[in-house]
Amino acid sequence: MTPRASLPSRIPPARRGPVGRGPRVGVVGLGYVGIATGVAFAAHGTRVVGYDVQGARRDQVARGDSPIYEPGLDRLLRRVVRAKRLTVASHVAELVGESDLLFVCVPTPSAPDGSVDLRFVEEAVGDLALVLRKAPGWKAVVVKSTVVPGTTEGLVREVLVRESGREIGPRLGLAANPEFLAEGSLVADALHPSRVVIGCSDRRTARMLRAAYRGFPSPVVELSPTAAELVKYASNAFLASRISFANEMAALCEATGTDVDAVMQAVGMDPRLGPRFLRAGPGFGGSCFTKDLRALLAAAGARGVELPLSEAALTVNERQPRHVAELAERLLGDLAGKEVALLGLSFKADTGDVRESRAYPILEELLRRGARVRLHDPRSLDAFLESLPPPLHGRISREILPMRTLREAVEGADLAVIQTDWKEYVRAGPAIWRSLRGPGVLDTRRCLYPRTLRAAGKVYAAVGRPPPALPAAEDPEAGRSPGDLRKPAISR
Ligand SMILES: NC(=O)c1ccc[n+]([C@@H]2O[C@H](COP(=O)([O-])OP(=O)(O)OC[C@H]3O[C@@H](n4cnc5c(N)ncnc54)[C@H](O)[C@@H]3O)[C@@H](O)[C@H]2O)c1
Repeated sequence: MTPRASLPSRIPPARRGPVGRGPRVGVVGLGYVGIATGVAFAAHGTRVVGYDVQGARRDQVARGDSPIYEPGLDRLLRRVVRAKRLTVASHVAELVGESDLLFVCVPTPSAPDGSVDLRFVEEAVGDLALVLRKAPGWKAVVVKSTVVPGTTEGLVREVLVRESGREIGPRLGLAANPEFLAEGSLVADALHPSRVVIGCSDRRTARMLRAAYRGFPSPVVELSPTAAELVKYASNAFLASRISFANEMAALCEATGTDVDAVMQAVGMDPRLGPRFLRAGPGFGGSCFTKDLRALLAAAGARGVELPLSEAALTVNERQPRHVAELAERLLGDLAGKEVALLGLSFKADTGDVRESRAYPILEELLRRGARVRLHDPRSLDAFLESLPPPLHGRISREILPMRTLREAVEGADLAVIQTDWKEYVRAGPAIWRSLRGPGVLDTRRCLYPRTLRAAGKVYAAVGRPPPALPAAEDPEAGRSPGDLRKPAISR
């Protein structure tokens, strides 16, 4: 995954000259991964056709209008659509007719027991296979969706062969090609993948996939389909474990009067470890880490293999929202009857995605303790409200108070809790925070400048830092040492 900072300021134009000399790419499912795959291939000069079961989404993408929010995506999508490098098929037969490599980019959600739900993959591959039965020429199905090890060679092969009436061989190829992009840096990650991992069932598909990725500045790693699938889960489990490790250390930093960022910065300077994914916070969210960890645990369990480290990563993550609510209690005392502004509902900044956002469990914890919660997000307030589970949905306007502006959310609130590090919050001046009725801000991301809070006459509290000294009248722990918050002095 490319660091967010490396998002190109200039998005590369679609290559000049005739397109379509390499294999033509078809994309099934125009969500985060499908759109990213489509625009990246198109920007690197390949002819791309997309398809989605949702008609409205097909029309939107065909107009060059992105259905998802991602920095830089609108511009690049518009450009490749105008250049006719990316078009949208209105049915599966059209998609198959115009593509050689068919990338399956459909959802793989969690089933109620945590295992991966492969229904969408099965449906999408089944639909392709029915058309492939009569389609002339060579075609290959490439599984880009995240699927548990063994799925491509197992379920996908079985459905493909059964429904198409063709064997994998000279006229039909099959491969796994997992995706590693991160939301928030989707465009940069899709254009410059850290590595392209392919697992092919046959030599021709391997050759064609390598040809399709020729324009990408990325190493290609070729493995078996099952190993390729496992690389994706191993990567996500490891990244999630690093975040949970940082959160575990954050609790110890709070208790020892130290600053988790200073500690983890020095830890990450070890070249064996590296600095990324060592940031403590409200816990990991998003569409992938939690569901993929659960799926990995279920898949391993089905084979009689225990994964205690991956299990612990989930356990620590599930504990973190409760910890955030406890930190709020340290600032406010009993939360019953208090009004808390929960700022940021997307699972991280620079995305409108609220899937598995830590804002849900934090909201639940605050409500359980009797608080009324004001909700604000510059991008995803509506998406968050729409996806609230029914019991919580019924509490909107009573204990759950949606707010359209940051000022509305903060003014008169007893506490503000930063859940997403949106720039709007980082840049807010002292006047906004001064309008709080209560003592200050609890920053789960440590993205605000404490001096802004000081200028507002408010306290700054954060995950991974010792509790601040409260004004004596409000301080349940008056007299306690403010802890060692020295910034690390790094010299060469
Ligand atoms: N979002 C990420 O950051 C990310 C990163 C890496 C991997 N992945 C994996 O990629 C896959 C897709 O994730 P996403 O976030 O893009 O999902 P998404 O929900 O954003 O998009 C999926 C799209 O597929 C469409 N779809 C569903 N069934 C279809 C069918 N039969 N035919 C055509 N279209 C169909 C849906 O309408 C939707 O537009 C998942 O397996 C996910 O785990 C996601």
